[in-house]
Amino acid sequence: MASDGFLQLVEQRRSNYTLSAESTIPDAKVVEIVQAAIKWAPASYNVQSARAVVLFRDQHRQFWDLAATHIAAHVKNLPLDEATKAFLVGRMAGFKAAYGTVLWFEDQAALDGLAKLHANVVPLLKEFSDSSSGMHQFIVWTALTAEGLGASLQHINSVPTLPAETLSTFGLPETWVFKAQLVFGKPTAPPMDKMTPPLGLPLETRVLVKE
Ligand SMILES: Cc1cc2nc3c(=O)[nH]c(=O)nc-3n(C[C@H](O)[C@H](O)[C@H](O)COP(=O)(O)O)c2cc1C
Repeated sequence: MASDGFLQLVEQRRSNYTLSAESTIPDAKVVEIVQAAIKWAPASYNVQSARAVVLFRDQHRQFWDLAATHIAAHVKNLPLDEATKAFLVGRMAGFKAAYGTVLWFEDQAALDGLAKLHANVVPLLKEFSDSSSGMHQFIVWTALTAEGLGASLQHINSVPTLPAETLSTFGLPETWVFKAQLVFGKPTAPPMDKMTPPLGLPLETRVLVKE
């Protein structure tokens, strides 16, 4: 069927946390994939609020060093045991060891413009923005999979001090709201099984068909 190839890629796209600092494709192809997602992913009222920054080499490593510094300071004040704190900070080194990262943002200025034009969408605007951002991320994640790369989607932007310093470090506009990080590289181990019960929930409870 016409959709089979696409759905095979959807199935192959997985979270992969063991990534080497190697790539299966030229950097220009990674950029082309991100550009295609930015160009073709849908957005509410075609607002085109998604923004992406592709980091390679020193820029990629600089981001994950920054993330490690901020998360280390952040977890100090959290009610977590020391092993969990060390685990959370230690993950940053694993991401740094990958090949590159796509930083995902939504431009609040574009969203504010949409809010002015369409007052009816204001209550849903944050949800629309997040949905569209996720679609962009999914397209790139799946396309990188098709090229033999592995990736994982991170949200270290939840550390309150990191977004502002990311904007200033990489010279980005203050209106860009930090949403996610897609870390990619050559996979060195297969992804974890997620569909074998009890992890995989029965499909018939999740998809209902009414005729
Ligand atoms: C919206 C969203 C947020 C996620 N955030 C994180 C995250 O911050 N850190 C992480 O390691 N994985 C994150 N994940 C990955 C999920 O844990 C993963 O997709 C899920 O366990 C299913 O595994 P799979 O990606 O291999 O299909 C996120 C996934 C989605 C869709």
